[in-house]
Amino acid sequence: MHLGVNIDHVAVLREARRVNDPDILNALHVTCENGADQITIHLREDRRHIQDVDAKNIMMHSKLPVNLECSIDSDIINIVCNLKPHRATLVPEKRQEVTTEGGLNILKYSDEISYAIEQLHDSIIPVSLFVDPTIEAMEISKDIGAEMVELHTGSFANIFAMLNSNLSYSNHSIKELELPRYELQSRLEKSLEDISSAAIHAKKLGLEVAAGHGLNYHNVSYMMDIKEITELNIGQSIIARSVFSGLGDAVKEMKRLTTR
Ligand code: PXP
Repeated sequence: MHLGVNIDHVAVLREARRVNDPDILNALHVTCENGADQITIHLREDRRHIQDVDAKNIMMHSKLPVNLECSIDSDIINIVCNLKPHRATLVPEKRQEVTTEGGLNILKYSDEISYAIEQLHDSIIPVSLFVDPTIEAMEISKDIGAEMVELHTGSFANIFAMLNSNLSYSNHSIKELELPRYELQSRLEKSLEDISSAAIHAKKLGLEVAAGHGLNYHNVSYMMDIKEITELNIGQSIIARSVFSGLGDAVKEMKRLTTR
């Protein structure tokens, strides 16, 4: 399995204070040196985390392939064509969303997506489409010329968290998933079946298959059981864990510097 690490979340922290710390290039270096297979970044239209200069610097300094996620907006596609990442992953974008909340509406926007794919192909950039795990989405992805699909695992991850963590007791409980456990269990099984069937179908069509969104240290093993999936892109859970695996040392060092 190839691991793509989505380092956007480091830029989220930096942008929260609009300073130059934490440095995204440090994140790139540490990620490259610790077993990742790919760097994933999302240059959003609203530039809420990764900036154009970050994307340029990451392209210049990354020792690993860069998977650049982007919308099909024409200005963004032009920027991506100039940056020439190892792959572009087309994702839907809504200004109000906290993160990418669903796959591309590939049926409604197939012409627009197809045009973006053509432009990227003209710049010799292979294209992956971030889609919901449905048979129809696999078929259309193949028809409009993508090389790869990334299956949106957000729905699976949400159900898993409502069933197996304290999420339902928190402020961030997902209202539409406040359901009896047996119902969540059956939805979890259905979501896994959807991911698995979509992956099998995509592979049969000759598409490479990635998956991502909401994957973490507790649920990732389910993806490991689907052999057609050969790449995972994971961000939030890795950066969240790194806060705690590094916080002790960070406090100790500041204490040392502030001890007379
Ligand atoms: N893959 C895609 C296409 C995404 O948009 C994201 C979120 O930026 C991820 C993977 C990673 O998701 P998470 O941060 O939940 O691990």
